Amino acid sequence: MPAAHSSPSTLHGKDLGRRRFLQLGAGGLVVIGAGAFASTQLIGRPASVSPDSAAQSLRGGNGKIVRRELRAAPTTVDLGGRIVPTWTYGGTVPGPEIRATAGDELRIRLLNELPAPTTVHWHGIALPTDMDGVPGLSQEEVAPAGSFDYEFVVPHPGTYWFHPHVGVQLDTGLQAPLIVEDPTEPGKYDEEVVLVLDDWTDGWGDSPDAILQQMARDGMGDGGMGDGEMGGDGMSMGGMAGGDQPLGADAGDVTYLGHLINGRLPADPVTIESTPGRRIRFRVINAGADTAYRVAIGGHRLTVTHTDGFGVTPLEVDTLVIGMGERYDVVVTAGDGVFPIVAVPEGKDAAPARALLRTGSGRTPPADTRPTELDGHLLAYTDLTPTEADALAPKGPDRELDVSLQMVNGGRQWFINGAGFGDHEPLEISEGERVRLHLKNQSMMFHPMHVHGHTFALAGRGGPGIRKDTVNVLPMQTLAVDLQADNPGQWAVHCHNIYHAELGMTTVLSYLE
Ligand code: C2O
Ligand code: CU
Repeated sequence: MPAAHSSPSTLHGKDLGRRRFLQLGAGGLVVIGAGAFASTQLIGRPASVSPDSAAQSLRGGNGKIVRRELRAAPTTVDLGGRIVPTWTYGGTVPGPEIRATAGDELRIRLLNELPAPTTVHWHGIALPTDMDGVPGLSQEEVAPAGSFDYEFVVPHPGTYWFHPHVGVQLDTGLQAPLIVEDPTEPGKYDEEVVLVLDDWTDGWGDSPDAILQQMARDGMGDGGMGDGEMGGDGMSMGGMAGGDQPLGADAGDVTYLGHLINGRLPADPVTIESTPGRRIRFRVINAGADTAYRVAIGGHRLTVTHTDGFGVTPLEVDTLVIGMGERYDVVVTAGDGVFPIVAVPEGKDAAPARALLRTGSGRTPPADTRPTELDGHLLAYTDLTPTEADALAPKGPDRELDVSLQMVNGGRQWFINGAGFGDHEPLEISEGERVRLHLKNQSMMFHPMHVHGHTFALAGRGGPGIRKDTVNVLPMQTLAVDLQADNPGQWAVHCHNIYHAELGMTTVLSYLE
């Protein structure tokens, strides 16, 4: 199905010409272009790139406009030997990347050619609330054959992505990267590659809607879901996080038939061509719905530079676990040969997603190669500190709110603070406050908790913690996060396990007038 992997030539507008980007060839081959510093012609510094002045920058921006049309439509795609009917943006999985520079204004027209209503959520972007894509909260659903113009400034550089915010559409092919470049990029790298990780069932196994219905009916312990770690009563037999189970014993309940890197199954992986010694920045996005991945590159260490688009003091690790909705940027110095890039479904008995890094001659490593890096130094949030530029200014909380995460009725429902979405009590805050959310996981599954419209800082441990918009809260763990209430509106707060979110684990951060 060539359409699925043709070179998205319309994707790289002329205004983006200062760097060449990866292009997927028909054979799944990735060609990466000239480096970040191939050109010194920088676009003017945006009026504001500070996330803490997002509200102002929404009006401001640098005057540059990035226009795209985003067509959501039923599509047949080739996942690498397996052809499936699904829904996509622009005909490919993942959809065509949108790339801009911090301060640019995006004008994206969504054309809904799906047989269902949809919206687009711009995950991680501090945008005006009416552009956030949450039906009933920030916008009306876009009806079939309808369209919607999303217009907003991207205030902060980083690795972001977008997906629908209707039902479990996220678990179809509707997903794509949104890369916001830094006009004053402080990092050193020669080239970059976006890696989108995804768990796949649509058009092959059960549909996402069928899986959701099954969960609502049977909970977690039944109906072919789970990995045999459930008790017959639907209760997780899982234990605490730790050891070789950093997310606990039950990291996900949906059995996927395939795990993908950039839309390809492991049997027919994407190959990234480079040269020994080149510093490659990988932007890793977990677009999965129910799967965390443990990521490693055979023969390489990963220098972590960003979490969820925000800078950290560079740190070298062997491997990292990325929850649903999270992003990591890592820089790797390419060795000489052919190396596997693997994303192992955490806590699931499934074949890892895979890509190849080829910088020289050598045999392609067999499909079942398990890089030893997977068992090496595993990144922990507490290993990381934010860069000075991206640290939230220290300040005590003006308001503290509990966000308790609860399994109900054997996993047929998932609640926040005793209620499912719709019956929820909003988390009320006022503009200008420093707000501390106490994310209290009272269940035995981990929850990648996502806050819309803001990037919070992990609290505690003496200094300001790393900035994130999605954070894995481990079984029975309490995690405090601080955010500056600088973007008035109504904002979803939810688990990025899309099934949990749909089964109730969604609430609202609500600015009081
Ligand atoms: Cu990426 Cu409300 O989600
Ligand atoms: Cu969850």
